[in-house]
Amino acid sequence: MKVLVATDKPFAKVAIDGIKKVVVAAGFELALLEKYTEKQQLLDAVADANAIIIRSDIVDAEVIAAAKQLKIVVRAGAGYDNVDLEAATAHNICVMNTPGQNANAVAELALGMMVYGVRNFYNGSSGTELLGKKLGIHAYGNVGRNVARIAKGFGMEIFAYDAFCPAHVIEQDGVTAVQSAEELYKTCQFISLHIPATAETKNSINYELLSTMPKGGMLINTARKEVINEAELIKLMEDRTDFKYLTDISPSHHDEFTTHFPGRYFSTPKKMGAQTAEANINAGIAAAEQIVNYILHGNDKFRVNK
Ligand code: 3PG
Repeated sequence: MKVLVATDKPFAKVAIDGIKKVVVAAGFELALLEKYTEKQQLLDAVADANAIIIRSDIVDAEVIAAAKQLKIVVRAGAGYDNVDLEAATAHNICVMNTPGQNANAVAELALGMMVYGVRNFYNGSSGTELLGKKLGIHAYGNVGRNVARIAKGFGMEIFAYDAFCPAHVIEQDGVTAVQSAEELYKTCQFISLHIPATAETKNSINYELLSTMPKGGMLINTARKEVINEAELIKLMEDRTDFKYLTDISPSHHDEFTTHFPGRYFSTPKKMGAQTAEANINAGIAAAEQIVNYILHGNDKFRVNK
């Protein structure tokens, strides 16, 4: 059995060591494809792989078709919008994610970006504090919960909206559950996005929603760029000079944001949320264990293409 780790953005070495241990202990072989620059390199590497561990790497119908021996793909992370689930299902390939494994890392970055934003990108001028301010967590999954836990330490007043998570689950964390996204945005000066990119959420963060945010509004995006209606966010930031946007996923209109909104826009050059040794170890080793459990024991607990 050959397990391929195909990551454009490599895991920390310590995580690769851990993955290797799990794979070798099961009697499997490990192959590595890191920092590849051409899709063809991925197509070649998957040809004889029985299992693949990926991150945000694109596994589309072409990759699936090239992977003739493939049984399972594990996205070491939360969002699996980079995998063509239909193509995988059609080829009888199991797709899994590793929910929660990198959640704390992403949540710490979200709070770090908030501090960076309120301190005016550390430009030496007088900023503001997070203490006592209202934070809206948009989607209360694993990352959202960690954001709430850390934001409590900052003394923020925390609200959350999640279309699928019952209000009592949110409230038991000492977080106020609101009934709609509209209510969340109207209430909170700070919004932290944790929604996945789906047909329903793509482009859903728009002018109408953002324009209701209180003065000094700040949007933090450690989720996906696709959920933002970029043209409308640009229009909003033109109309509201108090508004800041900080993102861990470089927008398609990055240059336009940079030119038009100096001091109010920041993007990491490469997605950094899950890029810690701890998150790499957690997600990478969980992925390896899930592969071994699936191949040897048929355990498909984290399958997402049922
Ligand atoms: C996730 O969905 O888990 C995060 O977006 C992390 O993505 P990455 O593995 O590409 O850093």
